[in-house]
Amino acid sequence: MEMLSELKKRRSFRAISPEPVEKDVISRLLTAATLAPSCFNNQPWRIIVVEKSPDNPHYPLVAATLSQGNFWALEAPLIFAFATGAHLDCRLDEGRDYAYFDLGQAAMALQMQAQKEGLYAHPIAGYSAPKLRLALKLPPEFLPLCLIIAGWPGDAEKLPENLRAGENAPRARKPLGDVAFSEYFGASWQ
Ligand SMILES: Cc1cc2nc3c(=O)[nH]c(=O)nc-3n(C[C@H](O)[C@H](O)[C@H](O)COP(=O)(O)O)c2cc1C
Repeated sequence: MEMLSELKKRRSFRAISPEPVEKDVISRLLTAATLAPSCFNNQPWRIIVVEKSPDNPHYPLVAATLSQGNFWALEAPLIFAFATGAHLDCRLDEGRDYAYFDLGQAAMALQMQAQKEGLYAHPIAGYSAPKLRLALKLPPEFLPLCLIIAGWPGDAEKLPENLRAGENAPRARKPLGDVAFSEYFGASWQ
């Protein structure tokens, strides 16, 4: 039950404080990500930490790849770029390229550790992948699949009205019967 209540509390919050996050906290988040399971223990995740600081010339390059709607992410002190390549993990029949699945598990583990640390961690796909690839110096066989925008809780009052409302809006989830089945596909779990 305790885990379920943690999962219920996790939200993709946008009101993130610019206050820096300490190195040891970042290390714990990264360690959590690497404790995820993976096919044959291939550990296909590659995580690039981009810190917002005046003396980091890489940060503006990464920030410039964000789509307009993700302007709120520019406040955050920390961006984790999650990348992988299909060649790094099991490739089984019917297109089962487990690198992407395992990268997602690592991303979730990082988000749950962030939750435990009291940090906000918000995954996004709204960025230009070609520009991000260049900014991160990512080799062509890797895909920059997700960014996690992270930092300490900030001031929701600074967000525009529509996003501020979203911070505490009720959780939108499909009913269990739409996504969970008993015995065979289509028979709603009850
Ligand atoms: C792969 C992925 C891409 C996402 N991209 C964006 C994004 O570009 N901008 C954004 O504000 N939120 C983004 N989100 C956050 C989702 O909108 C959010 O997870 C969803 O609405 C459910 O809300 P919750 O995480 O608070 O439960 C993304 C989430 C995931 C997993």
